[in-house]
Amino acid sequence: MVILILIGIVPCIITTSVVVRSYRSRAVSLRESSVKNQCEILCDFLESENYLSNPDSAVVNSELSLLSNVYNGRILIVDSDYRVVKDTYDIDTGKTSVSKEVVSTFVSGKGTSQYDEQNAYILMTFPICRPDDSVEGVLLVSVSTNEIVQSSRILENQGLLTTVIASLVVLILGYFLAGMLVKPFLRVTHAIEDVTDGFEDEAISVPDYTETVLITNAFNQMLSRVRAMDNSRQEFVSNVSHELKTPLTSMKVLADSLNGQDNVPNELYKEFMQDITQEIDRENKIITDLLSMVRLDKKAANLNIETIDITWMLEGIIKRLKPIAQARGIELILEVTQGVQAEVDEGKLGLAFSNLIENGIKYNVDGGWVRVTLNADKKYFYVTVADCGMGIPEDQQEHIFERFYRGDKSHSTTIEGTGLGLAITKSAILLHHGVIRLNSKVGEGTTFNVRIPISRQ
Ligand SMILES: Nc1ncnc2c1ncn2[C@@H]1O[C@H](COP(=O)(O)OP(=O)(O)O)[C@@H](O)[C@H]1O
Ligand SMILES: [Mg+2]
Repeated sequence: MVILILIGIVPCIITTSVVVRSYRSRAVSLRESSVKNQCEILCDFLESENYLSNPDSAVVNSELSLLSNVYNGRILIVDSDYRVVKDTYDIDTGKTSVSKEVVSTFVSGKGTSQYDEQNAYILMTFPICRPDDSVEGVLLVSVSTNEIVQSSRILENQGLLTTVIASLVVLILGYFLAGMLVKPFLRVTHAIEDVTDGFEDEAISVPDYTETVLITNAFNQMLSRVRAMDNSRQEFVSNVSHELKTPLTSMKVLADSLNGQDNVPNELYKEFMQDITQEIDRENKIITDLLSMVRLDKKAANLNIETIDITWMLEGIIKRLKPIAQARGIELILEVTQGVQAEVDEGKLGLAFSNLIENGIKYNVDGGWVRVTLNADKKYFYVTVADCGMGIPEDQQEHIFERFYRGDKSHSTTIEGTGLGLAITKSAILLHHGVIRLNSKVGEGTTFNVRIPISRQ
């Protein structure tokens, strides 16, 4: 604000002083030229009247005093002996004057002119020439420029006054205008503060300017994202609590029923204890999955990237899962079209593929097969995991990657699982900048296609 006013005032002051200065020099030069005109005429007149030999001429004297009155100036006439023949102020008459200007006029035959700004007068000399151009005498005039200085001073004062008034007006107007302009932004701030303090659960709206609309829109978008995140966090916490509680509840029921009976037969004890152990295993599995998922949720910076032979990695996973497959007579096949060395985090990506293969076994028919293939081109490697199992109904396909989502209730009670497997798989693949797609038909089988860049760049 202050800077704006300074930017406005400084040019005003400069302009004022420039205008006053040029007015003054113009007025002085006008005065000079008019005096010069008059004096040249006067010099001719003096010569024709032969005034230097006859200084008592009444006609000339009256002309001289008239002129000196008109210009508020003093006229001196000096003869060739440097004697002052006439002084309209009657101070120096009869004395000798050898001032620089007079001498130079005698010598050069030309007039001089000088403006003394400090004492406010113009000093001019003119030669009085005989018809043969020889200098007979000098006319010395000093004219006061007092009134020019005075009027320029008035001009200057008026200019300054106008500048001061104008800047005051600008200051006051600016103050109110700025207040008015800023008001909608203050309203935006208040609205945001209200949301932050929790008074307001709605989206905010301050439609005063395009800018405030843009700001509030951006804020509302951010707000809805934050809310969605908050909701999904709450949902996650409640899901986790529920999942963790289920095995505990079963264990509690089993233990209570044992405690409630006297003389429980040993076999029943054994049976219930086995059930309790199963529940403990389930609890353990859930916690393990949760921990892997939390680790995957962290930033990609935590990836432990190494150059890994993908064939070797897949072979390892298949070897580990073979016992579960064999238990149900399911054949595990690995087909490598193009082997590849890729920059990946073996632990995390291994988790992704072993979840896919494990699902292929779990949701399969006894005596079925799971086929894993590996292929690669210059940029990517491709892994598919296909099975001949039960397949995934179309309406479930978009949900299976959600945390804790488990398919058909009918099989989800008989087939154990946490519903976290595919969520983990997807996070791990995304951390590797990969994509995962699936193809499935109920009763025929499911194929997961994964594509991952070979190099991190
Ligand atoms: N290969 C598959 N065949 C059929 N259904 C599958 C397959 N893989 C996953 N699903 C379905 O997707 C759901 C989610 O899978 P997942 O996240 O691995 O959890 P979980 O295996 O613990 O149930 C499973 O409950 C199942 O209904
Ligand atoms: Mg699974």
